[in-house]
Amino acid sequence: MEAPTGGEFSPNASRIGWMAEGLTAAYRRGGAERTPLFQLVVRHLGPERTVADIGAGVGRFAIPLARHGCRVWAVEPAEEMRERLRRHLEESEVTGQVEVVGEEWPGAPVPPVEVALASYVLQLAEDPVAFVRALDRLATRQVVLALHVDPMPMPEIMARLTGRPVHHRPPLFDQLWPRILEAGVPAPAVEMVEEDHRPPWEEPEGMRLWLARMGIAEESPEAAAIFRQLAEEAKRWPSSRRSALVHWTPERS
Ligand SMILES: C[S@@+](CC[C@H](N)C(=O)[O-])C[C@H]1O[C@@H](n2cnc3c(N)ncnc32)[C@H](O)[C@@H]1O
Repeated sequence: MEAPTGGEFSPNASRIGWMAEGLTAAYRRGGAERTPLFQLVVRHLGPERTVADIGAGVGRFAIPLARHGCRVWAVEPAEEMRERLRRHLEESEVTGQVEVVGEEWPGAPVPPVEVALASYVLQLAEDPVAFVRALDRLATRQVVLALHVDPMPMPEIMARLTGRPVHHRPPLFDQLWPRILEAGVPAPAVEMVEEDHRPPWEEPEGMRLWLARMGIAEESPEAAAIFRQLAEEAKRWPSSRRSALVHWTPERS
Protein backbone atom coordinates (compact mmCIF):
# COMPACT_ATOMS: atom_id res chain seq x y z
CA MET A 1 0.00 0.00 0.00
CA GLU A 2 1.32 3.43 -0.94
CA ALA A 3 1.65 5.78 1.96
CA PRO A 4 -0.26 9.02 1.47
CA THR A 5 1.63 12.23 1.00
CA GLY A 6 0.47 15.57 2.21
CA GLY A 7 0.78 17.96 -0.71
CA GLU A 8 2.51 21.00 0.79
CA PHE A 9 3.85 18.84 3.62
CA SER A 10 7.42 19.61 4.64
CA PRO A 11 9.02 17.68 7.51
CA ASN A 12 10.32 20.76 9.33
CA ALA A 13 7.14 22.79 9.16
CA SER A 14 5.19 19.77 10.29
CA ARG A 15 7.48 19.02 13.22
CA ILE A 16 6.63 22.38 14.80
CA GLY A 17 3.02 21.93 13.64
CA TRP A 18 2.43 18.60 15.32
CA MET A 19 4.34 19.68 18.41
CA ALA A 20 2.16 22.80 18.62
CA GLU A 21 -1.05 20.77 18.19
CA GLY A 22 -0.03 18.27 20.87
CA LEU A 23 1.04 20.99 23.30
CA THR A 24 -2.15 22.99 22.73
CA ALA A 25 -4.24 19.88 23.48
CA ALA A 26 -2.23 19.39 26.69
CA TYR A 27 -2.58 23.09 27.61
CA ARG A 28 -6.35 22.94 27.08
CA ARG A 29 -6.63 19.77 29.19
CA GLY A 30 -4.97 21.76 32.02
CA GLY A 31 -3.52 20.33 35.20
CA ALA A 32 0.04 21.66 34.79
CA GLU A 33 -0.07 22.87 38.41
CA ARG A 34 -0.35 19.30 39.65
CA THR A 35 2.73 18.05 37.79
CA PRO A 36 5.95 17.30 39.68
CA LEU A 37 7.73 19.67 37.26
CA PHE A 38 5.55 22.65 38.21
CA GLN A 39 5.87 21.84 41.91
CA LEU A 40 9.64 21.57 41.63
CA VAL A 41 9.85 25.03 40.05
CA VAL A 42 7.55 26.56 42.67
CA ARG A 43 9.52 24.97 45.51
CA HIS A 44 12.65 26.82 44.44
CA LEU A 45 11.17 30.27 43.93
CA GLY A 46 12.63 33.10 45.97
CA PRO A 47 11.20 36.47 47.01
CA GLU A 48 11.19 37.83 43.45
CA ARG A 49 9.30 34.84 41.97
CA THR A 50 11.11 35.14 38.62
CA VAL A 51 11.26 32.28 36.10
CA ALA A 52 12.73 31.90 32.62
CA ASP A 53 10.74 29.31 30.66
CA ILE A 54 13.15 28.42 27.87
CA GLY A 55 11.33 26.89 24.88
CA ALA A 56 7.98 27.86 26.39
CA GLY A 57 5.94 26.46 23.47
CA VAL A 58 2.28 27.43 23.75
CA GLY A 59 2.56 28.43 27.43
CA ARG A 60 1.75 25.09 29.08
CA PHE A 61 3.91 26.04 32.12
CA ALA A 62 4.54 29.79 31.60
CA ILE A 63 0.85 30.72 32.02
CA PRO A 64 0.11 28.56 35.10
CA LEU A 65 3.36 29.88 36.66
CA ALA A 66 2.22 33.47 36.01
CA ARG A 67 -1.13 32.59 37.64
CA HIS A 68 0.90 31.38 40.60
CA GLY A 69 2.30 34.91 40.98
CA CYS A 70 5.51 34.51 38.95
CA ARG A 71 7.07 37.00 36.57
CA VAL A 72 7.97 34.84 33.55
CA TRP A 73 10.28 35.32 30.57
CA ALA A 74 8.91 32.93 27.93
CA VAL A 75 11.69 32.29 25.41
CA GLU A 76 10.26 30.77 22.21
CA PRO A 77 11.97 31.00 18.80
CA ALA A 78 9.20 29.36 16.69
CA GLU A 79 6.67 31.84 15.28
CA GLU A 80 3.85 29.27 15.22
CA MET A 81 4.36 28.49 18.91
CA ARG A 82 4.55 32.21 19.79
CA GLU A 83 1.26 32.91 17.99
CA ARG A 84 -0.48 30.28 20.08
CA LEU A 85 1.30 31.44 23.23
CA ARG A 86 0.13 35.03 22.60
CA ARG A 87 -3.43 33.82 21.96
CA HIS A 88 -3.41 31.83 25.20
CA LEU A 89 -1.99 34.86 27.05
CA GLU A 90 -4.68 37.15 25.66
CA GLU A 91 -7.33 34.70 26.87
CA SER A 92 -5.69 34.65 30.31
CA GLU A 93 -5.67 37.25 33.04
CA VAL A 94 -1.87 37.26 33.38
CA THR A 95 -0.67 38.79 30.07
CA GLY A 96 1.22 41.53 31.90
CA GLN A 97 3.29 39.02 33.85
CA VAL A 98 4.76 37.17 30.88
CA GLU A 99 7.42 38.64 28.63
CA VAL A 100 7.63 36.76 25.32
CA VAL A 101 11.16 36.61 23.88
CA GLY A 102 11.27 35.42 20.27
CA GLU A 103 14.84 34.14 20.14
CA GLU A 104 16.80 30.93 20.58
CA TRP A 105 18.59 29.76 23.68
CA PRO A 106 21.44 30.33 24.34
CA GLY A 107 21.64 33.96 23.30
CA ALA A 108 18.09 35.20 23.96
CA PRO A 109 18.12 38.36 26.11
CA VAL A 110 16.80 37.36 29.55
CA PRO A 111 17.78 39.01 32.85
CA PRO A 112 18.95 36.82 35.75
CA VAL A 113 16.04 34.81 37.21
CA GLU A 114 15.59 32.68 40.30
CA VAL A 115 14.55 29.56 38.38
CA ALA A 116 15.50 28.63 34.82
CA LEU A 117 13.21 25.97 33.35
CA ALA A 118 13.63 24.07 30.07
CA SER A 119 10.83 21.55 29.69
CA TYR A 120 11.41 19.04 26.85
CA VAL A 121 13.74 21.41 24.96
CA LEU A 122 17.29 20.13 25.50
CA GLN A 123 16.71 17.31 22.97
CA LEU A 124 16.26 20.01 20.31
CA ALA A 125 19.36 22.06 21.20
CA GLU A 126 22.14 22.23 18.64
CA ASP A 127 24.77 22.17 21.38
CA PRO A 128 23.29 20.71 24.60
CA VAL A 129 26.46 21.46 26.61
CA ALA A 130 26.42 25.18 25.73
CA PHE A 131 22.63 25.24 26.33
CA VAL A 132 23.03 23.78 29.85
CA ARG A 133 25.99 26.02 30.78
CA ALA A 134 24.05 29.14 29.74
CA LEU A 135 21.11 28.04 31.94
CA ASP A 136 23.52 27.58 34.83
CA ARG A 137 24.69 31.18 34.37
CA LEU A 138 21.12 32.52 34.10
CA ALA A 139 19.54 31.13 37.29
CA THR A 140 20.27 32.27 40.83
CA ARG A 141 18.43 29.48 42.72
CA GLN A 142 17.65 26.45 40.55
CA VAL A 143 17.85 25.07 37.02
CA VAL A 144 15.13 22.56 36.11
CA LEU A 145 15.15 20.38 32.98
CA ALA A 146 12.50 17.88 31.85
CA LEU A 147 13.75 15.16 29.51
CA HIS A 148 11.97 12.28 27.80
CA VAL A 149 13.02 8.87 29.08
CA ASP A 150 10.66 6.87 26.83
CA PRO A 151 10.53 7.72 23.13
CA MET A 152 7.59 9.71 21.79
CA PRO A 153 5.55 7.91 19.10
CA MET A 154 5.21 10.81 16.68
CA PRO A 155 8.32 10.34 14.46
CA GLU A 156 7.18 6.80 13.60
CA ILE A 157 3.63 7.97 12.92
CA MET A 158 4.86 10.71 10.61
CA ALA A 159 7.07 8.21 8.77
CA ARG A 160 4.11 5.91 8.15
CA LEU A 161 1.89 8.74 6.99
CA THR A 162 4.42 10.30 4.65
CA GLY A 163 6.22 7.18 3.47
CA ARG A 164 9.53 8.81 4.41
CA PRO A 165 11.97 7.15 6.79
CA VAL A 166 12.44 8.60 10.25
CA HIS A 167 15.48 10.79 9.67
CA HIS A 168 15.89 12.09 13.20
CA ARG A 169 14.97 10.70 16.58
CA PRO A 170 15.59 13.36 19.23
CA PRO A 171 17.98 12.16 21.95
CA LEU A 172 16.44 10.82 25.15
CA PHE A 173 17.59 11.09 28.76
CA ASP A 174 20.20 8.31 28.37
CA GLN A 175 21.98 10.31 25.65
CA LEU A 176 21.53 13.74 27.22
CA TRP A 177 22.64 12.84 30.75
CA PRO A 178 26.36 12.49 29.76
CA ARG A 179 26.16 15.91 28.06
CA ILE A 180 24.78 17.46 31.27
CA LEU A 181 27.69 15.95 33.19
CA GLU A 182 30.07 17.22 30.51
CA ALA A 183 28.70 20.74 31.10
CA GLY A 184 30.16 20.47 34.61
CA VAL A 185 27.14 21.80 36.51
CA PRO A 186 27.21 21.27 40.28
CA ALA A 187 25.68 17.94 41.50
CA PRO A 188 22.60 17.57 39.31
CA ALA A 189 19.78 15.52 40.90
CA VAL A 190 17.45 13.25 38.89
CA GLU A 191 13.82 12.34 39.62
CA MET A 192 11.90 9.89 37.43
CA VAL A 193 8.24 10.85 36.97
CA GLU A 194 5.25 9.73 34.90
CA GLU A 195 3.83 12.41 32.60
CA ASP A 196 0.48 12.41 30.82
CA HIS A 197 1.30 12.09 27.12
CA ARG A 198 -1.98 11.00 25.62
CA PRO A 199 -2.36 11.52 21.87
CA PRO A 200 -4.47 14.60 21.06
CA TRP A 201 -7.22 12.55 19.39
CA GLU A 202 -9.61 9.82 20.44
CA GLU A 203 -11.24 8.65 17.20
CA PRO A 204 -10.06 8.25 13.58
CA GLU A 205 -12.02 11.38 12.62
CA GLY A 206 -10.26 13.38 15.32
CA MET A 207 -6.94 12.20 14.03
CA ARG A 208 -7.89 13.06 10.45
CA LEU A 209 -8.80 16.61 11.47
CA TRP A 210 -5.67 16.93 13.55
CA LEU A 211 -3.48 15.88 10.61
CA ALA A 212 -5.42 18.10 8.19
CA ARG A 213 -4.57 21.10 10.36
CA MET A 214 -0.92 20.21 9.82
CA GLY A 215 -1.32 20.05 6.05
CA ILE A 216 -1.48 16.26 5.91
CA ALA A 217 -4.87 15.81 4.36
CA GLU A 218 -5.55 12.88 2.07
CA GLU A 219 -8.97 11.66 1.14
CA SER A 220 -7.77 8.38 -0.38
CA PRO A 221 -8.99 5.05 1.03
CA GLU A 222 -5.34 4.18 1.81
CA ALA A 223 -4.98 7.26 4.01
CA ALA A 224 -8.30 6.55 5.69
CA ALA A 225 -7.08 3.01 6.41
CA ILE A 226 -3.85 4.32 7.97
CA PHE A 227 -5.80 6.79 10.11
CA ARG A 228 -8.10 4.01 11.32
CA GLN A 229 -5.18 1.72 12.07
CA LEU A 230 -3.26 4.43 13.96
CA ALA A 231 -6.30 5.43 15.98
CA GLU A 232 -6.80 1.77 16.88
CA GLU A 233 -3.14 1.44 17.96
CA ALA A 234 -3.32 4.71 19.89
CA LYS A 235 -5.90 3.13 22.22
CA ARG A 236 -3.21 0.71 23.36
CA TRP A 237 -0.52 3.33 23.87
CA PRO A 238 0.36 3.99 27.48
CA SER A 239 -1.45 7.08 28.70
CA SER A 240 1.73 8.21 30.42
CA ARG A 241 5.42 8.06 29.67
CA ARG A 242 8.45 8.36 31.88
CA SER A 243 10.32 11.64 32.12
CA ALA A 244 13.41 12.65 34.04
CA LEU A 245 13.46 15.89 35.97
CA VAL A 246 17.06 17.01 36.27
CA HIS A 247 17.77 19.94 38.56
CA TRP A 248 20.58 21.63 40.41
CA THR A 249 21.53 24.71 42.39
CA PRO A 250 23.59 26.84 40.00
CA GLU A 251 27.16 27.87 40.51
CA ARG A 252 26.35 31.56 41.11
CA SER A 253 23.79 30.94 43.88
C1 LIG B 1 8.54 19.95 22.94
S1 LIG B 1 8.30 21.67 22.98
C2 LIG B 1 8.08 21.95 24.73
C3 LIG B 1 7.34 23.21 25.05
C4 LIG B 1 7.13 23.52 26.53
N1 LIG B 1 8.37 23.68 27.22
C5 LIG B 1 6.27 22.47 27.20
O1 LIG B 1 6.80 21.61 27.91
O2 LIG B 1 5.06 22.50 27.00
C6 LIG B 1 9.91 22.33 22.65
C7 LIG B 1 9.92 23.84 22.41
O3 LIG B 1 11.28 24.31 22.42
C8 LIG B 1 11.43 25.26 21.39
N2 LIG B 1 12.88 25.30 21.05
C9 LIG B 1 13.57 24.49 20.23
N3 LIG B 1 14.86 24.84 20.19
C10 LIG B 1 15.00 25.89 21.04
C11 LIG B 1 16.11 26.71 21.44
N4 LIG B 1 17.34 26.52 20.97
N5 LIG B 1 15.88 27.70 22.32
C12 LIG B 1 14.64 27.90 22.83
N6 LIG B 1 13.55 27.17 22.47
C13 LIG B 1 13.74 26.18 21.60
C14 LIG B 1 10.54 24.75 20.27
O4 LIG B 1 10.21 25.78 19.36
C15 LIG B 1 9.34 24.24 21.05
O5 LIG B 1 8.39 25.24 21.25
